[in-house]
Amino acid sequence: MSKLSFVYNRHSVRKFKKFAVAEEDIREIIKAATYAPSGKNAQNWHFVVIKNEGKINKIAEIIEDKTHELAKLADKEDLKKNLLKYLHYHTFFKYAPVLILVFAGPYPIPACDILMAANKTEEANRILKAAPGIQNIGAAMENLLLAAASLGYGTCWMTGPNYATSEIEQYIGFKKEGYSLVAMTPLGVPEESELKSPTRKELDEVLTIID
Ligand SMILES: Cc1cc2nc3c(=O)[nH]c(=O)nc-3n(C[C@H](O)[C@H](O)[C@H](O)COP(=O)(O)O)c2cc1C
Repeated sequence: MSKLSFVYNRHSVRKFKKFAVAEEDIREIIKAATYAPSGKNAQNWHFVVIKNEGKINKIAEIIEDKTHELAKLADKEDLKKNLLKYLHYHTFFKYAPVLILVFAGPYPIPACDILMAANKTEEANRILKAAPGIQNIGAAMENLLLAAASLGYGTCWMTGPNYATSEIEQYIGFKKEGYSLVAMTPLGVPEESELKSPTRKELDEVLTIID
């Protein structure tokens, strides 16, 4: 067994058993998420856990409604088709026992502020493109997913439904100054025991070692 099996055992899970998740396990998983590294130890994350079946369903419904609203707006048939074909991938969590909403808070970048004030927008944008504040959230999210998998739970990192974040925020009524919803994941016992991930690119295609 690989020493890294905790990495290889994580897969995106989109079907869950009806079992509830113990609050103790939820807390342990979120604690693991908060042990992720973050720039200047900013910890600019907040996790909102929804366990209520009706509320999880309503969030899926909000995304579905928003998807159809956007589809109506589309001026090209292929754009509309491309949006609608992912609807399932944006709403499948409706049958999960838990939904975790991940919020990102402010992450000041003084160098960026200085460059902006000096009208060096191109240089500032280069820093912003690397989205350091959001990298913190990505690190927390991956910790969360790995911790959940290690405890036998399934998750699926989701940003696809982000076009409905303002409606979701409004519905759940969670407010924290400067924070906004950036990702979500369902959490539950996977329905299938033989989980697989899609294939990966060959290592040499994505790796360059410079001596
Ligand atoms: C930032 C991010 C956003 C994602 N958004 C979605 C999503 O909205 N819906 C979904 O079903 N999967 C989503 N995924 C899961 C990916 O499809 C999945 O990670 C990828 O296909 C590799 O499969 P694996 O996670 O099983 O290894 C997302 C993954 C990441 C990292």
